[in-house]
Amino acid sequence: MQSLLPTLSPAAPQAAAIRFLFFVTIGISVVILGAVIGMIAYALVRYRARTREEVGRQTTGNTPIEVLWTVVPTLILAGLFVLTVRAMTSIDPTPPPDRTPDVVVIGHQWWWEVHYPRSGAVAANEIHIPVGRRLLVRIESADVVHDFWVPRLTRKVDMVPGHPNHLWLEAAAPGVYRGTCAEFCGAQHAHMRFLVVAQPPEAFDAWVRAQVGPAPAPVTQRALAGARLFQSKTCSNCHAIGGTAAKGDLGPDLTHLASRRTLAAGTLTNTPATLGRWLADPQSIKPGSFMPNLDLSHDEVASLVAYLETLR
Ligand code: CUA
Repeated sequence: MQSLLPTLSPAAPQAAAIRFLFFVTIGISVVILGAVIGMIAYALVRYRARTREEVGRQTTGNTPIEVLWTVVPTLILAGLFVLTVRAMTSIDPTPPPDRTPDVVVIGHQWWWEVHYPRSGAVAANEIHIPVGRRLLVRIESADVVHDFWVPRLTRKVDMVPGHPNHLWLEAAAPGVYRGTCAEFCGAQHAHMRFLVVAQPPEAFDAWVRAQVGPAPAPVTQRALAGARLFQSKTCSNCHAIGGTAAKGDLGPDLTHLASRRTLAAGTLTNTPATLGRWLADPQSIKPGSFMPNLDLSHDEVASLVAYLETLR
Protein backbone atom coordinates (compact mmCIF):
# COMPACT_ATOMS: atom_id res chain seq x y z
CA MET A 1 0.00 0.00 0.00
CA GLN A 2 2.64 2.45 1.09
CA SER A 3 4.95 1.95 -1.87
CA LEU A 4 2.17 1.67 -4.45
CA LEU A 5 0.20 4.68 -3.29
CA PRO A 6 2.57 6.88 -1.32
CA THR A 7 0.19 9.83 -1.51
CA LEU A 8 -2.27 7.80 0.56
CA SER A 9 0.13 7.41 3.50
CA PRO A 10 1.04 11.03 4.25
CA ALA A 11 3.82 11.80 6.71
CA ALA A 12 3.27 15.57 6.90
CA PRO A 13 0.31 17.93 7.37
CA GLN A 14 0.62 19.15 3.77
CA ALA A 15 0.30 15.65 2.31
CA ALA A 16 -2.52 14.86 4.78
CA ALA A 17 -4.47 17.92 3.55
CA ILE A 18 -4.04 16.71 -0.04
CA ARG A 19 -5.23 13.22 0.87
CA PHE A 20 -8.31 14.65 2.66
CA LEU A 21 -9.25 16.67 -0.41
CA PHE A 22 -8.68 13.62 -2.62
CA PHE A 23 -11.03 11.43 -0.58
CA VAL A 24 -13.74 14.11 -0.29
CA THR A 25 -13.69 14.65 -4.08
CA ILE A 26 -13.65 10.92 -4.85
CA GLY A 27 -16.41 10.32 -2.29
CA ILE A 28 -18.74 12.94 -3.78
CA SER A 29 -17.96 11.70 -7.31
CA VAL A 30 -18.77 8.10 -6.37
CA VAL A 31 -22.13 9.15 -4.82
CA ILE A 32 -23.04 11.13 -7.97
CA LEU A 33 -21.96 8.29 -10.26
CA GLY A 34 -24.03 5.84 -8.22
CA ALA A 35 -27.09 8.13 -8.33
CA VAL A 36 -26.82 8.64 -12.12
CA ILE A 37 -26.35 4.92 -12.84
CA GLY A 38 -29.21 4.10 -10.46
CA MET A 39 -31.60 6.53 -12.16
CA ILE A 40 -30.67 5.29 -15.64
CA ALA A 41 -31.20 1.69 -14.55
CA TYR A 42 -34.53 2.56 -12.93
CA ALA A 43 -35.69 4.42 -16.05
CA LEU A 44 -34.63 1.53 -18.31
CA VAL A 45 -36.70 -0.96 -16.38
CA ARG A 46 -39.63 1.17 -15.25
CA TYR A 47 -40.29 3.05 -18.51
CA ARG A 48 -39.33 0.59 -21.20
CA ALA A 49 -41.92 0.03 -23.98
CA ARG A 50 -44.08 -3.04 -23.30
CA THR A 51 -45.45 -3.20 -26.88
CA ARG A 52 -44.14 -1.97 -30.25
CA GLU A 53 -46.87 0.68 -30.49
CA GLU A 54 -46.61 2.03 -26.98
CA VAL A 55 -45.51 5.69 -26.75
CA GLY A 56 -44.44 7.07 -23.39
CA ARG A 57 -46.06 10.00 -21.66
CA GLN A 58 -44.61 13.19 -23.16
CA THR A 59 -43.73 16.07 -20.84
CA THR A 60 -41.79 19.31 -21.22
CA GLY A 61 -40.30 21.43 -18.46
CA ASN A 62 -40.23 20.65 -14.75
CA THR A 63 -39.33 23.65 -12.61
CA PRO A 64 -38.65 21.81 -9.31
CA ILE A 65 -36.27 19.34 -11.01
CA GLU A 66 -34.50 22.11 -12.94
CA VAL A 67 -34.03 24.12 -9.75
CA LEU A 68 -32.74 21.00 -8.02
CA TRP A 69 -30.16 20.13 -10.70
CA THR A 70 -28.90 23.69 -10.72
CA VAL A 71 -28.77 24.28 -6.98
CA VAL A 72 -27.30 20.95 -5.87
CA PRO A 73 -24.25 20.99 -8.21
CA THR A 74 -23.69 24.67 -7.36
CA LEU A 75 -23.62 23.83 -3.65
CA ILE A 76 -21.30 20.83 -4.22
CA LEU A 77 -18.87 22.91 -6.31
CA ALA A 78 -18.97 25.78 -3.81
CA GLY A 79 -18.20 23.32 -0.99
CA LEU A 80 -15.30 21.79 -2.93
CA PHE A 81 -14.03 25.28 -3.75
CA VAL A 82 -13.97 26.26 -0.08
CA LEU A 83 -12.22 22.99 0.91
CA THR A 84 -9.69 23.38 -1.93
CA VAL A 85 -8.83 26.97 -1.03
CA ARG A 86 -8.50 25.93 2.62
CA ALA A 87 -6.11 23.10 1.69
CA MET A 88 -4.11 25.35 -0.64
CA THR A 89 -3.63 28.07 1.99
CA SER A 90 -2.62 25.53 4.64
CA ILE A 91 -0.15 23.78 2.30
CA ASP A 92 1.26 26.86 0.66
CA PRO A 93 1.18 30.01 2.79
CA THR A 94 3.07 32.88 1.12
CA PRO A 95 6.57 32.98 2.62
CA PRO A 96 7.54 36.20 4.47
CA PRO A 97 9.39 38.37 1.92
CA ASP A 98 12.53 38.81 4.03
CA ARG A 99 12.88 35.17 5.07
CA THR A 100 16.02 33.36 3.93
CA PRO A 101 15.11 29.90 2.62
CA ASP A 102 16.23 27.02 4.84
CA VAL A 103 17.12 24.92 1.82
CA VAL A 104 17.74 25.74 -1.84
CA VAL A 105 17.25 22.88 -4.31
CA ILE A 106 18.38 23.29 -7.92
CA GLY A 107 17.22 20.83 -10.56
CA HIS A 108 19.75 19.69 -13.16
CA GLN A 109 19.56 17.17 -16.00
CA TRP A 110 19.44 14.73 -14.10
CA TRP A 111 20.25 15.33 -10.47
CA TRP A 112 19.50 17.60 -7.55
CA GLU A 113 21.82 20.22 -6.09
CA VAL A 114 21.05 21.00 -2.45
CA HIS A 115 22.24 24.05 -0.45
CA TYR A 116 21.63 25.13 3.12
CA PRO A 117 22.13 28.94 3.01
CA ARG A 118 22.29 29.34 6.82
CA SER A 119 25.09 26.83 7.41
CA GLY A 120 26.69 26.72 3.96
CA ALA A 121 26.24 22.94 3.78
CA VAL A 122 26.07 21.46 0.29
CA ALA A 123 24.64 18.08 -0.69
CA ALA A 124 23.27 16.31 -3.75
CA ASN A 125 20.29 14.05 -4.34
CA GLU A 126 19.66 13.82 -0.59
CA ILE A 127 17.86 16.47 1.47
CA HIS A 128 18.19 16.13 5.22
CA ILE A 129 15.60 17.87 7.38
CA PRO A 130 14.91 18.00 11.12
CA VAL A 131 11.69 16.20 12.09
CA GLY A 132 8.67 18.32 12.95
CA ARG A 133 10.04 21.63 11.66
CA ARG A 134 8.55 23.35 8.66
CA LEU A 135 11.33 24.42 6.31
CA LEU A 136 11.09 26.98 3.54
CA VAL A 137 12.58 25.48 0.37
CA ARG A 138 13.45 27.60 -2.66
CA ILE A 139 13.48 25.59 -5.85
CA GLU A 140 15.24 26.57 -9.05
CA SER A 141 16.37 24.99 -12.27
CA ALA A 142 19.76 25.13 -13.95
CA ASP A 143 18.50 24.05 -17.37
CA VAL A 144 14.99 22.86 -18.29
CA VAL A 145 11.72 22.61 -16.36
CA HIS A 146 11.82 19.95 -13.63
CA ASP A 147 9.25 19.27 -10.94
CA PHE A 148 9.96 18.67 -7.26
CA TRP A 149 7.73 16.05 -5.67
CA VAL A 150 7.88 14.10 -2.41
CA PRO A 151 4.51 12.29 -2.44
CA ARG A 152 4.36 11.48 1.27
CA LEU A 153 5.31 15.01 2.33
CA THR A 154 4.05 17.73 0.04
CA ARG A 155 2.65 18.80 -3.28
CA LYS A 156 4.43 19.03 -6.62
CA VAL A 157 6.05 22.32 -7.57
CA ASP A 158 7.67 23.09 -10.92
CA MET A 159 11.32 24.13 -11.04
CA VAL A 160 11.38 26.80 -13.71
CA PRO A 161 14.63 28.23 -15.16
CA GLY A 162 14.99 31.88 -14.14
CA HIS A 163 11.93 31.80 -11.88
CA PRO A 164 12.52 30.53 -8.33
CA ASN A 165 9.51 28.95 -6.61
CA HIS A 166 8.95 28.16 -2.94
CA LEU A 167 7.44 25.30 -1.02
CA TRP A 168 7.15 24.24 2.60
CA LEU A 169 8.71 20.94 3.54
CA GLU A 170 8.28 19.07 6.79
CA ALA A 171 8.00 15.51 8.07
CA ALA A 172 6.02 14.49 11.13
CA ALA A 173 8.07 11.33 11.74
CA PRO A 174 11.71 10.36 11.20
CA GLY A 175 12.25 8.39 8.03
CA VAL A 176 13.55 8.33 4.50
CA TYR A 177 11.02 9.66 2.00
CA ARG A 178 11.39 9.17 -1.72
CA GLY A 179 11.23 12.15 -4.01
CA THR A 180 11.17 12.33 -7.77
CA CYS A 181 11.15 14.67 -10.72
CA ALA A 182 7.54 14.87 -11.90
CA GLU A 183 8.00 16.72 -15.18
CA PHE A 184 9.45 15.08 -18.27
CA CYS A 185 12.88 16.68 -18.64
CA GLY A 186 14.78 14.57 -21.13
CA ALA A 187 16.26 11.12 -21.63
CA GLN A 188 17.00 10.34 -17.96
CA HIS A 189 13.90 11.91 -16.39
CA ALA A 190 13.09 8.51 -14.85
CA HIS A 191 16.52 8.47 -13.17
CA MET A 192 16.02 11.81 -11.45
CA ARG A 193 15.19 10.71 -7.93
CA PHE A 194 16.16 11.98 -4.51
CA LEU A 195 15.65 11.18 -0.85
CA VAL A 196 14.39 13.33 1.98
CA VAL A 197 15.96 12.11 5.21
CA ALA A 198 14.00 13.36 8.22
CA GLN A 199 16.05 13.10 11.40
CA PRO A 200 15.74 14.07 15.07
CA PRO A 201 17.13 17.62 15.48
CA GLU A 202 20.41 16.47 17.11
CA ALA A 203 21.12 14.00 14.29
CA PHE A 204 20.27 16.67 11.72
CA ASP A 205 22.65 19.18 13.36
CA ALA A 206 25.40 16.55 13.39
CA TRP A 207 24.80 15.87 9.69
CA VAL A 208 25.01 19.60 8.87
CA ARG A 209 28.28 19.93 10.83
CA ALA A 210 29.73 16.97 8.92
CA GLN A 211 28.64 18.38 5.54
CA VAL A 212 30.08 21.83 6.23
CA GLY A 213 33.54 20.43 6.99
CA PRO A 214 36.10 19.63 4.29
CA ALA A 215 36.73 16.12 3.04
CA PRO A 216 39.18 14.09 5.12
CA ALA A 217 42.59 13.77 3.45
CA PRO A 218 43.32 10.35 1.91
CA VAL A 219 46.02 8.28 3.66
CA THR A 220 46.42 4.92 1.88
CA GLN A 221 48.57 4.64 -1.27
CA ARG A 222 45.51 3.52 -3.26
CA ALA A 223 43.45 6.49 -2.13
CA LEU A 224 46.30 8.92 -2.78
CA ALA A 225 46.64 7.51 -6.30
CA GLY A 226 42.89 7.98 -6.73
CA ALA A 227 43.13 11.60 -5.59
CA ARG A 228 45.80 12.24 -8.23
CA LEU A 229 43.66 10.54 -10.89
CA PHE A 230 40.72 12.70 -9.86
CA GLN A 231 42.75 15.73 -11.01
CA SER A 232 44.55 14.21 -14.01
CA LYS A 233 41.45 12.51 -15.47
CA THR A 234 39.63 15.88 -15.41
CA CYS A 235 36.99 14.75 -12.88
CA SER A 236 37.77 18.00 -11.08
CA ASN A 237 36.58 20.08 -14.06
CA CYS A 238 32.98 19.15 -13.25
CA HIS A 239 33.01 18.13 -9.58
CA ALA A 240 34.06 19.96 -6.42
CA ILE A 241 35.64 18.35 -3.37
CA GLY A 242 35.93 20.70 -0.38
CA GLY A 243 39.49 21.31 0.81
CA THR A 244 41.03 20.28 -2.52
CA ALA A 245 41.77 21.97 -5.85
CA ALA A 246 38.62 20.40 -7.36
CA LYS A 247 36.14 23.26 -7.78
CA GLY A 248 33.96 22.20 -10.75
CA ASP A 249 30.28 23.00 -10.46
CA LEU A 250 28.69 21.18 -13.42
CA GLY A 251 28.18 17.91 -11.56
CA PRO A 252 27.35 17.09 -7.93
CA ASP A 253 29.67 18.28 -5.15
CA LEU A 254 31.47 15.11 -4.02
CA THR A 255 32.94 16.35 -0.72
CA HIS A 256 30.85 13.84 1.27
CA LEU A 257 29.89 11.44 -1.51
CA ALA A 258 30.53 8.31 0.56
CA SER A 259 27.98 9.41 3.18
CA ARG A 260 25.15 9.42 0.62
CA ARG A 261 22.72 6.56 0.16
CA THR A 262 22.49 6.58 -3.63
CA LEU A 263 24.55 7.36 -6.73
CA ALA A 264 23.46 9.14 -9.92
CA ALA A 265 20.29 10.60 -8.38
CA GLY A 266 18.77 7.42 -7.00
CA THR A 267 19.87 5.23 -9.91
CA LEU A 268 22.16 2.99 -7.81
CA THR A 269 22.56 2.16 -4.13
CA ASN A 270 25.85 3.70 -3.05
CA THR A 271 28.38 0.92 -2.42
CA PRO A 272 32.04 0.58 -3.49
CA ALA A 273 30.97 -2.00 -6.08
CA THR A 274 28.27 0.17 -7.68
CA LEU A 275 30.55 3.20 -7.55
CA GLY A 276 33.12 1.19 -9.51
CA ARG A 277 30.51 0.17 -12.09
CA TRP A 278 29.38 3.79 -12.41
CA LEU A 279 32.93 5.11 -12.93
CA ALA A 280 33.79 2.37 -15.42
CA ASP A 281 30.76 2.88 -17.66
CA PRO A 282 28.27 5.57 -16.61
CA GLN A 283 26.73 5.70 -20.09
CA SER A 284 25.54 2.10 -19.88
CA ILE A 285 23.81 2.86 -16.57
CA LYS A 286 22.43 6.32 -17.38
CA PRO A 287 22.62 6.83 -21.17
CA GLY A 288 22.73 10.49 -22.16
CA SER A 289 23.84 11.72 -18.75
CA PHE A 290 26.61 14.31 -18.66
CA MET A 291 28.93 11.93 -16.82
CA PRO A 292 31.22 10.76 -19.64
CA ASN A 293 32.89 7.38 -20.10
CA LEU A 294 36.56 8.09 -19.40
CA ASP A 295 37.79 4.65 -20.51
CA LEU A 296 39.40 4.03 -17.13
CA SER A 297 41.38 0.85 -16.54
CA HIS A 298 40.38 -1.58 -13.77
CA ASP A 299 43.27 -0.29 -11.72
CA GLU A 300 42.28 3.34 -12.18
CA VAL A 301 38.68 2.58 -11.21
CA ALA A 302 39.91 0.77 -8.08
CA SER A 303 42.07 3.75 -7.09
CA LEU A 304 39.29 6.27 -7.70
CA VAL A 305 36.86 4.14 -5.68
CA ALA A 306 39.40 3.92 -2.83
CA TYR A 307 39.72 7.70 -2.85
CA LEU A 308 35.99 8.51 -3.21
CA GLU A 309 35.16 6.07 -0.39
CA THR A 310 37.22 8.26 1.96
CA LEU A 311 34.86 11.20 1.28
CA ARG A 312 32.61 10.68 4.30
CU1 CUA B 1 13.86 16.48 -14.12
CU2 CUA B 1 12.10 15.12 -15.02
